[in-house]
Order: sequence, then structure tokens, then C-alpha cells
Amino acid sequence: MNSEGKRPMRTTVGIIGAGPAGLLLARLLHNAGIDSVVLESRDRAYVEHRQRAGILEQGTVDVLRVAGAGERMDREGLRHDGIELRFDKKRHRVDFPALTGGRSVMVYAQTEVCKDLIALQLKEGGPLLFEAEALAVEGADTDSPRVRFRYEGSEDVLECDYVVGCDGFWGVSRGAIPAELTRVFERTYPFGWLGILADVAPSHDELVYARHDRGFALLSMRSPSVSRLYLQVPEGTDAEAWSDEAIWAELERRFETADGWRLERGPVTQKSVTPMRSYVHEPMRHGRLFLAGDAAHIVPPTGAKGLNLAVGDVVTFARALTHERETGSAELLDAYSATCLRRVWQAERFSYDMTTLLHRAPDATPFEDRLQLARLERIAGARAAETDLAEGYTGFPFG
Ligand code: APR
Ligand code: PHB
Repeated sequence: MNSEGKRPMRTTVGIIGAGPAGLLLARLLHNAGIDSVVLESRDRAYVEHRQRAGILEQGTVDVLRVAGAGERMDREGLRHDGIELRFDKKRHRVDFPALTGGRSVMVYAQTEVCKDLIALQLKEGGPLLFEAEALAVEGADTDSPRVRFRYEGSEDVLECDYVVGCDGFWGVSRGAIPAELTRVFERTYPFGWLGILADVAPSHDELVYARHDRGFALLSMRSPSVSRLYLQVPEGTDAEAWSDEAIWAELERRFETADGWRLERGPVTQKSVTPMRSYVHEPMRHGRLFLAGDAAHIVPPTGAKGLNLAVGDVVTFARALTHERETGSAELLDAYSATCLRRVWQAERFSYDMTTLLHRAPDATPFEDRLQLARLERIAGARAAETDLAEGYTGFPFG
């Protein structure tokens, strides 16, 4: 009984977190006829407006469509067949379909993916409880794990067959795995990203990744009328220390090209700083507790892998549990961690490579500056190197 003498809730899969991982997992399980309950500590408005990345790999686009969550994405998303690398005032376009046998990416913000999945879950899915904070995962190594959570002022218990921690880097699920059974691999970077949203049409029709002696800059977008731009800044930078004028002026310097390309300015509507970290927690499973998404791994945003990795994890879990329900075999569940980590480490490698290729560390030496330019020249001049980038950017296979 809970603190008010009520019988605990019960479900097959307890999902902690209603970010992309938790919401998509609930949808995939619903479509497979498997019941779940989603516990989300924040309110709906917060989840739907939390600014995050906006690039969906081909695999993610396909999963959302098959899951019945792709209709607005296909209507409002922007298909992109390439990106531009900019360095030494030069411009080089990477042509994804030509290099990957037809793959592209979709520009469609994570906030919109979450809105679409929340609407589906509330309309057709199982319980999605907002402002329900998971306090602990108990009994992960038993046949009946539980999630203790606080909701509407009282403590409650969700009894499950499985718990999937989709509660992000700061969640509670990872802590339920005994420290002596885990290994953590991480690297922090001496810089972060100052990101802005601006009400101005993007100055280029595809994303522009610029390497400059003053630091990295990225031109992205949210729609034909909203630009999303980023500047590399020193770690610990306060976004409010940068005026809009200073941001635009710095972006213009870093995007400068020999052919006089112009960056259009507009009203800045949102400004924030994102720290940079690479992090992997192994294993991604303990008993009947499974970790998915940022709860298990973090990548620097340079390669736009975070959301797409979360998708790969929950596709792997849903496929494994469906297999167990249909055949009685737990083989795919037992392989969950190894299956996910193969893809996670390839994304970590790609994100690290993109980050060190384009960002200038505060203590960079002239040798390292030249090395970066040589790496960029190699990509711009050799199909093999360019193909590796295009394959990494458009996504690694699931499972
Ligand atoms: N109880 C319930 N919910 C929680 C708890 C808790 N104790 N702790 C965290 N949460 C919720 C957060 O409020 C958030 O909504 O879990 C959710 C985790 O979502 P994300 O952090 O978005 O993680 P994930 O779903 O794995 O998606 C990864 O999101 O943060 C970006 O860059 C990241 O693009 C990547 C994607
Ligand atoms: C974004 O649009 O927020 C974005 C795009 C590409 C990245 C990172 C972030 O690599």
C-alpha cells in the first residue's frame, strides 16, 4: 500500500522520463500491444518547449513514420541533402545522398517530436503522468521491480515487469545500478555553445559548420522563418554576458567567406549556453532495469546525435521485449546493452571527431591549428574521408 493506503499502480513497463526516449518507447510499446506508464517530473509545457537539437537521422524519420508519429514531421519538417563545411574562408558542401546511397536528414525540432508523441500518448496510449517525480528504482535485480514516485503531493509505487530509465543525465535510474558493476567513460570540453533563436530566415538553405581561429560557429534553423545559431564560447560562459549585437558581430566574423556571403540578422528570441560532454555508462542494463538515451550516454551536440541515439536505444528495447513476448526467448533483452553500446560508441567517436575537427581549444597550438585545416582539406578533397562524415551524420544502423 502507498502512503495513503492505496494499492500500488501496476504495468508491464515503467518508463521514467517523457523526453524523446520515454515518449517514443511508450508509443512503440503501445503499437506492440504492451502496456506502459510514463512518469515525468516536469509539466507538459516545460517538456514541449525545452530547446534542444533539431536534426533527425534517416533511421529516426523512418521509425517515427512507422510508429504513426510522422505526419506533422513530413508536413513541416525540412529534408536536407547536405551540410556546408566552412574553413579558411572557403566553403565545401557535403552531398549526403551521393555519398551514402540516398540517405538524407530531416530538420525537425526535438520540441516538435515531443509535442507529437505527447499528443498521441494522451489520445491513444497508456498513462502519462506529468509532475510525477521518480524518487527511486527498487528491486531492479528481482522479477518485480518498482518505481517509487511522488505525485499530487503523496508518495506512490509503480510495480512493473521492467523499468526503462529514460530520465536523462540528471535522472535517478542510473543510480539504481550498483557502482561496483558499472564503468563510466567521460570527457569534458573546455568550451560550450552559446545558442540563439532568431526571427529571421536562415541565411543558407542547409546547415553551415564553420571552423575559425576565433572558434566554431553553426548556422541551423527551425523553419523557413526561424534561425538557430550557435557560437563556441569558453566553458562556464553566462549567456547574459553576450549582447545580441556582440553575438551577431561574432557570428559574422566566424562565417566570413572569400565570396562575400552575408549573414542576415533578426530579433533574438532565446539565448542559452550548453556545456559540452562525452559520457557513456556501461552497462545499460541491470536485471530488469534498462537505461535509454541521455540516462546512459551524452554526446557533444556537434554531430546532432543525442536524440537519434535515444531513438536507437528504445527501438532496440521495444524489439527485444516484443521478441520475448512472442517467442519466450530473452536473448535480445540479454543482448540489449551490447547492441546499444555498439551504436553508442560509433556515435561517440563521430561526435568527438566532429567536435575536435571544428572547435578551437583555448590552449590550441599552431600545430593543432594546421592539423585541423589538414583534416578539413582531406574531407573536402577525398571522397573516402567525405563519405565517412556523411555516413556518420546521416546515421548508424539500429541494432
Ligand atoms: N522522474 C521523472 N522524470 C524525470 C526524472 C525523475 N526523477 N528525472 C528526469 N526526468 C525527466 C526530465 O524532466 C526529462 O523530461 O526525464 C526526461 C529526460 O529527457 P531528456 O533529457 O530529453 O533525455 P532523452 O529522452 O534521453 O533524450 C535525449 O534530449 O536532452 C536531449 O540532447 C539530448 O537530444 C538528446 C535527447
Ligand atoms: C540544432 O539545430 O539545434 C542543431 C543542428 C545541428 C547540430 C546541433 C544542433 O549539430
